[in-house]
Amino acid sequence: MAFFAVEGLTMRFGGLTALDNVSFEVERATIFSVIGPNGSGKSTAFNCINGIHRPTAGEVHFEGERISGWSCHHIARRGIARTFQNIELFGNESTIDNLMLGRHQHMTTGVWQGLAMVNGRTKAARDEGENRERVQHILELLDLDGVRERPVRELPYGTQKRVELARALAMEPKLLLVDEPSAGMNAQERTELGERLGRLRADLDLTILLIEHHLQLAMGLADRVLVLNFGKPIAQGTPEEVRRHPEVIKAYLGDG
Ligand SMILES: Nc1ncnc2c1ncn2[C@@H]1O[C@H](COP(=O)(O)OP(=O)(O)OP(=O)(O)O)[C@@H](O)[C@H]1O
Ligand SMILES: [Mg+2]
Repeated sequence: MAFFAVEGLTMRFGGLTALDNVSFEVERATIFSVIGPNGSGKSTAFNCINGIHRPTAGEVHFEGERISGWSCHHIARRGIARTFQNIELFGNESTIDNLMLGRHQHMTTGVWQGLAMVNGRTKAARDEGENRERVQHILELLDLDGVRERPVRELPYGTQKRVELARALAMEPKLLLVDEPSAGMNAQERTELGERLGRLRADLDLTILLIEHHLQLAMGLADRVLVLNFGKPIAQGTPEEVRRHPEVIKAYLGDG
């Protein structure tokens, strides 16, 4: 079975079918892009995968386990992290604290377990040290060391997007869902983002699901691409295959 698979995923909001029988598989350590016009169901797919929505029908499988129906929290713990289309950070907190908070929520040690002594230090104290080290490494990976103590709300938008990515990575996910990471970035920031995502996949063996409006970035990074239109999957394949697909050309360029 595939590392990650979605089968017949359907999501209805009242009379609106936001996702209509969507299926795809993602291999480990690959990048899978989801593209499609506004309102085509991309973010809804992420919301179904990470447990924000309970899908109306269909299943999500991760490493041989069915995870659809699980809570958001449980799915995160299982190794799936995400970023949001609209930045969701603690604006008044520093970059490093945003990462530490993300990690804490994820990996809290029970109180009694935390007080147990290991080599003269409590487990909680030792965990805290380890957490700091891991978080520092991620700050360096994403070139955020220079703004580690700055309140996030003071940072330029493009940098905040990077902090969000870092926070998701701080949870040490196996699968990372990234929703519109390049939104609001200039051309240079976008190029850097592409290089970064490629490196993360290679260095951390990370599997990435990427929603991206900027087609060059989405296609350039992806091993495989899924195209949605009005909630329906209209094409799937390598970037080359998808680019030539008549339905895709029609969806993007219109009938004219
Ligand atoms: N919680 C919700 N309740 C009702 N309708 C919703 C909800 N979430 C999304 N929708 C609707 O579902 C459809 C798909 O929305 P979604 O946000 O998944 O699109 P998208 O492909 O991410 O679009 P965009 O590119 O603009 O981000 C839209 O018509 C949207 O209005
Ligand atoms: Mg969206």
